[in-house]
Amino acid sequence: MGKEQTFSIIKPNAIKKNAIGAIIKKFEDNGLKVAAAKLVQLERGKCEEFYAEHKERPFFGELVDFMTSGPVMLMALSGEGAIMKNREIMGATNPKDAAPGTIRAEFGDNVGENAVHGSDSAASAQRELALFFEKSELVNI
Ligand code: RTP
Ligand code: MG
Repeated sequence: MGKEQTFSIIKPNAIKKNAIGAIIKKFEDNGLKVAAAKLVQLERGKCEEFYAEHKERPFFGELVDFMTSGPVMLMALSGEGAIMKNREIMGATNPKDAAPGTIRAEFGDNVGENAVHGSDSAASAQRELALFFEKSELVNI
């Protein structure tokens, strides 16, 4: 599989719970490394661009409202098979369906406010990392 980098967001509900450290610990305990990180308040336009694939979904407006409701932590995560490993550590989209011990099971509130985002493919990882990070900001770790 080889080393990959993926894109991760700690969403506003998890930041409000003071769970940044606990969430990063889950990544680190499962073999992923933080390769870039910044805490930002997303602008609405940039958030809409990020979620463009969901533009026609009924929850799009709500999703953008939520993701711009407070600061988020943007990260690059690095490791062997990082893209799929991150999705496993996150758990299912709906925290009710997320396996015990996953981030969404422990820190998600509902299907929208589900604590974290993670890229779902190599193409998404590349697009999403490029949207939020300069190449020079991604360390080789
Ligand atoms: P993510 O993109 O955040 O990593 O989550 P995902 O792949 O598991 O889920 P996706 O289908 O891509 O949905 C993106 C985000 O939209 C919100 N959502 N709300 N109200 C709803 O029914 C609903 N469905 C999805 C969630 O915040 C989800 O993470
Ligand atoms: Mg997704």
